[in-house]
Amino acid sequence: MKSMEKIVSLCKRRGYLFQSSEIYGGIQGFWDYGPLGVELKRNLKDAWWHDMISGHNELVKPESAPTPFEMVGLDSTIIMHPQVWKCSGHYDLFHDHMVDCRESKKRYRFDQIRGRWVEYQDKKVFVTTMAEAEQELEEVRRRGMKFFRLRNKDADKITVGDESLTLDKLDSTENVLAPDAKSLDTLTEPREFNLMFKTTLGALGGEDDTTFLRPETAQGIFVNFKNVLDSSRVGLPFGIGQVGKSFRNEITPRNFTFRSREFEQMEIEFFCHPDQSQQWYRYWRDRRLAWYKELGLSDESLIMREHHQEELAHYSVGTADIEYAFPFLPEGEYGELEGIAHRGDFDLRSHMEGKLDPSTRPMQVELGEDGKPKYRGSGRDLSYRDEATNEKFVPHVVEPSAGADRGALAFLCEAYTEDEAPDEKGKMQTRTVMKLHPRLAPIKAAVFPLVKKDGMPEVAHEIYGELKRHMNVFYDEKGAVGRRYRRQDEAGTPYCITVDTDTLTDRTVTIRDRDTLEQTRVKIDDVVADLRTRING
Ligand code: GAP
Repeated sequence: MKSMEKIVSLCKRRGYLFQSSEIYGGIQGFWDYGPLGVELKRNLKDAWWHDMISGHNELVKPESAPTPFEMVGLDSTIIMHPQVWKCSGHYDLFHDHMVDCRESKKRYRFDQIRGRWVEYQDKKVFVTTMAEAEQELEEVRRRGMKFFRLRNKDADKITVGDESLTLDKLDSTENVLAPDAKSLDTLTEPREFNLMFKTTLGALGGEDDTTFLRPETAQGIFVNFKNVLDSSRVGLPFGIGQVGKSFRNEITPRNFTFRSREFEQMEIEFFCHPDQSQQWYRYWRDRRLAWYKELGLSDESLIMREHHQEELAHYSVGTADIEYAFPFLPEGEYGELEGIAHRGDFDLRSHMEGKLDPSTRPMQVELGEDGKPKYRGSGRDLSYRDEATNEKFVPHVVEPSAGADRGALAFLCEAYTEDEAPDEKGKMQTRTVMKLHPRLAPIKAAVFPLVKKDGMPEVAHEIYGELKRHMNVFYDEKGAVGRRYRRQDEAGTPYCITVDTDTLTDRTVTIRDRDTLEQTRVKIDDVVADLRTRING
């Protein structure tokens, strides 16, 4: 059985993920990647970079794309000019709603408090909890019993509602028992909380020196649009991709790395002619969903969800989320992996003219009380001239925005498998195996001498040395070979190469496949090429 508890425990035990600053008690919302985790996340980012940017062939039209297109990369800074965030809308609009509990003094994100109606005699209260989905019902029942001062033997005297709701779905918080409170109605009205981390530039530290750690990598791309256009030979349609850290002061970071305060994004801003933007939006939505499937997420655990009008971000005229059935969510619920947004010309025009008012159509620059632009733009011309038609326009943008940490977590959750495999004595045993796609697997192959004698370690060293030049491999000669296989299964290593008695006479080795357990004999000289084909298909 796949459970979040087991996945979290494996991640720590095998060095995928650790809590940041753990020896000091940890810090909420920050995570460190251990030796296996760093390889997995790097492989995921490399796969994205290759498949979206460096490996893209601009000479060929992909089947479902409207036309051929170009892709280039960028690496912009985390700290940018404060005006960037005013014009992007983050300064005014990038907030969540939080509530404070007057009794426990704790702070929560309004839409993350979950609960159920609990009824006893004539009284009905909404009992909430921050417990994970798996424990939510039990925890609500326990708290409900406690609230009504009932003993275990009276458990059947209360009724717990079937429907689990988040607090934002209720009309009022009047009869709510807050997650850490003993009495009712202790929550404040929801208030806005800006999610950007503030920081100060230089030594003087006045209000004018305040800036922010970027909450998304996207803005670095918009402000460099003209630089890229002028310095490379790209022409519309084209995309600029960037991978890097983003920071959000999340009110309640939770669910392992899913909602962290420091995380990495893999974003593309795709610039195109306004008339073609809907077609490009559809292309990128489908292409990105297909990418997750190519790397091993199953059809059943992925959905594409188009946003309703009222859910759309301030700049967006259409957004779809690719969502994954993370095991920490209740059955039938999905969590966002990536958003594909049609942003129109909001960003380029805002950085050019001044922040636009998203509620106006067509969008106008938002004015302050003095009748001047509330946040002045750069004044730079960020429009594009089509050389063939001589038409000048501000391009529209389609933005596929993915999280590297959420991606890594989804692939870890998908990969976690318990099955049956024979041990050294041929007896069937439960084995834990991380069925990661070979491209994502931290270690591509492990090399074992069957025994630590008869010249086998020497040959294994030779193979290991050769493979190391091409990929991340692991050498192990300690303990029974069955145990060594098990350790690699847990680490997600797709192939194990074993040097045995036959190797000494015919210079062949066995390659064991992690998922099928099939063993094939391959000439030592062919091992590199054989693994390459297996990994890259
Ligand atoms: N530029 C658009 C943008 O940033 P977003 O939906 O806020 O859009 C994009 O973020 C992706 O970044 C999300 O789909 C998710 O994968 C990742 N992400 C956002 N906030 C996150 C957080 N607190 N922790 C981990 N990943 C996060």
